[in-house]
Amino acid sequence: MYSEKVMEHFMNPRHVGEISDADGVGTEGNPVCGDIMRIYLKVDEEDKITDIKFKTFGCGAAIATSDMVCEMVLGKTLDEAMQVTNAVVAEALDGLPPNKMHCSNLAADALHKAIEDLKSRRQKRKAESS
Ligand code: FES
Repeated sequence: MYSEKVMEHFMNPRHVGEISDADGVGTEGNPVCGDIMRIYLKVDEEDKITDIKFKTFGCGAAIATSDMVCEMVLGKTLDEAMQVTNAVVAEALDGLPPNKMHCSNLAADALHKAIEDLKSRRQKRKAESS
């Protein structure tokens, strides 16, 4: 059975969508089931996450973990966001059924990829301007 928190984030996700001028975008696929999650983020000049959205083509647990990871890192710095693990996200949702734990693997991984994308875009811009 899903926890109340999982059901709440699945039924009423707060962060679904895209950010057209995102600073970083990360996509992660789940090899177990083929589901996909994409995270878009924007940061301010202090590297604080000011906006974050997700698109998840997956099950209810994947949607709930996507929404929870967005909620957890909004307003945090990139370094703080890098500390968020898949296990922490599942815990914040009061756990997932054992056969759904693999669904939580998308959330933090997609977030970390979006942060890496942001950093590599930055490096490219730096290299181009020097
Ligand atoms: Fe694919 Fe849950 S069944 S992420």
